[in-house]
Amino acid sequence: MREREDEVSAAAPSGATGGSPTSAAPEGRTAPPGGPGGTPESPPGVGPGRLAIGIDVGGTGIKAAIVDIDTGELRTARVRIRTPQPSTPRRCIEAMEGLVRKLTDTLPLDPSAPVGVGIPGVAIDGTILTATNIDKGWLGFAAGDAIAKALQRPVTIINDADAAGLAELQFGAGRGHSGTVLVITLGTGIGTALFRNGHLVPNTELGHIEIRGRDAESRASATARIRRKLSWVKWAGDVDEFLHRIDTLLWPDLIIVGGGVSKEAEKFLHRITVRPPLVTAQLRNEAGIVGAAMRAGRMAATSATDLPALATQPGQTPAGEARQTPAGEAPPQPV
Ligand code: BGC
Repeated sequence: MREREDEVSAAAPSGATGGSPTSAAPEGRTAPPGGPGGTPESPPGVGPGRLAIGIDVGGTGIKAAIVDIDTGELRTARVRIRTPQPSTPRRCIEAMEGLVRKLTDTLPLDPSAPVGVGIPGVAIDGTILTATNIDKGWLGFAAGDAIAKALQRPVTIINDADAAGLAELQFGAGRGHSGTVLVITLGTGIGTALFRNGHLVPNTELGHIEIRGRDAESRASATARIRRKLSWVKWAGDVDEFLHRIDTLLWPDLIIVGGGVSKEAEKFLHRITVRPPLVTAQLRNEAGIVGAAMRAGRMAATSATDLPALATQPGQTPAGEARQTPAGEAPPQPV
C-alpha cells in the first residue's frame, strides 16, 4: 500500500530493530553509517539518502539524532542538552543549533536533509498554539519559520506525542495494529497520539481532560507523581482513573504507554485495570526523535516531485501541516 502523510504502514520494514550499536552510540538501536539502508549509490549521510534530523523538545531535555527514516534506526548517537530555563523559543532554538552542529559534525548531511521538531504543544502549520510545559513565549510563535531560518534547513514541526506515536506505530509497540490505537506519553506532561487504522488524528490533547475538577495531567503525569509525593500505588490509581475516562470517550483497541516513566512500567502497569490491552512503548526515549524525523522526511517528500512511493501529489501538503524552507532557498530534494 502506498503511504500517505499521517499514515503508517502496518507491515514492519526489515531491519527495523536490528541496528547494531557502535561505540559512538552506546544506547538505543543505532545503526552504524553504511549499515542497513545505505547503498553504494546513496551512501548514508550524503546526497539524497533517506536521512533526517529528529529533535524532541521536552520539559527537561532537548534530544536529537540523525535518523534513517526507512528503518527508524538512529545513525548517530543521541545528543541531549538540558532544556534552557526559561525555555523561551530563542534559547531553545540556540540549543537546537548546537545539537544539530554536533550531529552534522559527526555525520555530514546534505543541506536539503530535513529537520523534524517535536514540541510539547499543539502545532498547526508550524505555529505553536498551546504551551503548558514550556515558556509562554511559544504561544503563537511561528516555530517552523524561525527554526528553518536558524538551521538553514527545511523544518517540520509536530506535537511531541504525535511524533512519538508515529514512531511507535511504525517501528514499535503499535506495529501491525489497526483499529483505534492511543499512544499516551507520561512525562513532564501527558501527551496523546490517536490513530485510526494507522491514520494520525493530530493534536489530540487528552492529557488536559478534567478529572475531579483538575487537569488530568496535573494528577497523573510522571512529574505529578513526584510533585505530589505519591507512592507508585497511589499514582497508578490516578493513571487508572484517567485511562478509564479515556476509554469511555474513545473505546480504543490498544493503549500504548510511553514517556520516561515507561521504563519503570513494572512499578505500576499491573495495577491498571482499564478494559483495552495496554502495552509499553518500545522505542522509549527515542520515539519522539524518530517520529519527528519521519514526519520531516515525509513532508520533504510530499513537496518534491516524482516520488512514486507517496500517495500525495507532488507539491501537495497534507492538511494542517506546513513545511518551512529557509528564506530564499529552493525546496529540498527528495530524501
Ligand atoms: C501538552 C501536549 C504535550 C504533552 C507531552 C502537554 O502538556 O499540552 O501538547 O504533547 O504535554 O509533552
